[in-house]
Amino acid sequence: MPAAAPQRCTTPYGELHLVRYPRRNPEPLQAWCSADLLLLEAAAARGLCERLLCVNDDFGALTLAAPDGTAWLDSWLSAEALARNAQANERPYSVTSMPGLPSPDCSGVLIRIPKQLALLRWQLQLLAQHLPTGTPVLLAGMDKHLAPNTAEEIEAVLGATERHRGARRARVFSARVPANAECPDIPWRRFQCDYLPNSVHSLPGVFSGDSLDIGSRFLLDNLSQLRPAERCMDLACGNGVLGLAAAHQGLVGALVFCDESAMALASAKDNATRMDLSADTGFCWGDGSGAYEGEPVDSILCNPPFHLGHTVDEYAGRRLLQQAARQLKPGGQLLAVANRHLTYGPALQRSFTSVKQVAQNRKFTLWSAIR
Ligand SMILES: C[S@@+](CC[C@H](N)C(=O)[O-])C[C@H]1O[C@@H](n2cnc3c(N)ncnc32)[C@H](O)[C@@H]1O
Repeated sequence: MPAAAPQRCTTPYGELHLVRYPRRNPEPLQAWCSADLLLLEAAAARGLCERLLCVNDDFGALTLAAPDGTAWLDSWLSAEALARNAQANERPYSVTSMPGLPSPDCSGVLIRIPKQLALLRWQLQLLAQHLPTGTPVLLAGMDKHLAPNTAEEIEAVLGATERHRGARRARVFSARVPANAECPDIPWRRFQCDYLPNSVHSLPGVFSGDSLDIGSRFLLDNLSQLRPAERCMDLACGNGVLGLAAAHQGLVGALVFCDESAMALASAKDNATRMDLSADTGFCWGDGSGAYEGEPVDSILCNPPFHLGHTVDEYAGRRLLQQAARQLKPGGQLLAVANRHLTYGPALQRSFTSVKQVAQNRKFTLWSAIR
């Protein structure tokens, strides 16, 4: 059994007790990293001691360290970790989900640099337009996740950017909100999908926004395996391409899209609106299907996640597929695509009565599981 990660986090503002969400027992991964600590040290060194606006905070280390922090985030899992850690540490905070805008009332901004630089650029453009000129902006990432042109991306929006000396395998950049920032257009990414009448739109940071993922394509190539359904859920929907294709083929009467990314759901909503579907649609921001409160569904489509934050972790998809059984009517069908090397079979067999591999190619397996 792996050892449990430490939970006591020492910051320049004091000690925090931090855990991840979702959380295993024992949880082998720590709820903060040295990029978080470097950001807090840089903020404290500049005398920023309250009302920090924290962007892309994973589990609350940034938002909860100094008094009256605000989180601006995309991830429901991060929002939940933040809420639980705030309660455990008795710290007040506020949160705004993207693409909405946070309050500009802050002493400075701390940003964990996201994987996709297009998302960073969009976040910086909005903040630059929205926050008072001169507001300090500190950004950090772990060396292994930073693109070589990160500083140039920051400079393109904020102007003069200082690259600080790396420490503990992480690095900080600093800049200030410039005067007269331009108002950005919404940077939709678009691709044409053979299975849909319209192009698919995705906000920055959303999974596979520039082309159809090859796993999703494999599922759509075999969509004939989906039984026609009155009510269908697109679980972990991203831009909604799977559910929309099923609706376009007349396989579903009503569609509910679930994702933990608010930007993904905003993208799915935009795509559903432009397709002018006859199917009823619903959108749920939460962990798996946890925010869905409607009737059990007849079918679920899923291309499950294989990451927990920056970490590749099979656990993310396995728990989602197991949860899916709870949302299905008896006799309902889960159709899920997975990389062949992922061992979802035993997990599915524990939660469903009949589990079959209905299609396979060199890379992927398509699972059909009946509740
Ligand atoms: C592999 S992508 C698939 C997206 C889309 N269905 C497609 O085929 O392009 C997985 C999606 O799972 C979402 N996700 C990750 N963890 C989740 C969770 N615990 N609950 C709901 N969605 C989650 C991610 O935000 C991402 O959009």
